[in-house]
Amino acid sequence: MEVVIVPDAESGGELIAEAMAQLLRRKPDALLGVATGSTPLPVSEALAAKVRSGAVDVSRARIAQLDEYVGLPAEHPKSYRSVLTREVLEPLGIGMDAFMGPDGTAEDVQEACEAYDMALAEAGGVDLQLLGIGTDGHIGFNEPCSSLASRTRIKTLTEQTRWDNARFFDGDIDQVPHHVITQGIGTILQAWHLVLFATGEGKADAVAATVEGPVAAVCPASALQLHRHATVVVDEAAASELKLVDYFRHAFANKPDWPQI
Ligand code: PGA
Repeated sequence: MEVVIVPDAESGGELIAEAMAQLLRRKPDALLGVATGSTPLPVSEALAAKVRSGAVDVSRARIAQLDEYVGLPAEHPKSYRSVLTREVLEPLGIGMDAFMGPDGTAEDVQEACEAYDMALAEAGGVDLQLLGIGTDGHIGFNEPCSSLASRTRIKTLTEQTRWDNARFFDGDIDQVPHHVITQGIGTILQAWHLVLFATGEGKADAVAATVEGPVAAVCPASALQLHRHATVVVDEAAASELKLVDYFRHAFANKPDWPQI
């Protein structure tokens, strides 16, 4: 995998947004897989700025959701569908007709998960999947010891993740659902390009385990080592536990003039 160390979250957002823009210039109806959380915000801000300046056209772009809380109606302000509508679709001017996501309120959750997996495959697969990482190494909501071959399914959140996410629920952990639907690790690995973005010291251990640790279900993000085109974009703080940091800097600084990531 390629590791790119950026000075700060803003430049990471710009780098990833430019990769998305390059993809959309090649393939205007690309399917972009987006993630929720604080980390991806600079990406959508940078991409929205490119749309406003006319540097990229997203009128045919399609957006796919990574995970969702079970039991929150789509219109609930904290549902990930609502969050993505506010933070990605509206700033980019993309309508719901170009959006796909799992139904967190389906009566038969398993059926909804399988239907979503099938819909992703029928859409031709995700062209570029943006991922955050949990402090416990989760991607999507695949918590430690998730099967590396898992498909979209229901999962139970760890208490750590519920505490981490309580800030989105007025700091009240009791409001954070216990259950989620998440694309499985096997599903995520089917995207054509995976871009994991991590910022801040709190992510440094998880990033080191992802990049330099063994491929192991205890760190779900380590499955990226099995992907043929995975890019890990980290700021200095999130890179602080990497042993090969000098090599990663050297490799990126001397990269031939290919697509940037
Ligand atoms: P964060 O979430 O970007 O808000 O830290 C990342 C994640 O849990 O995947």
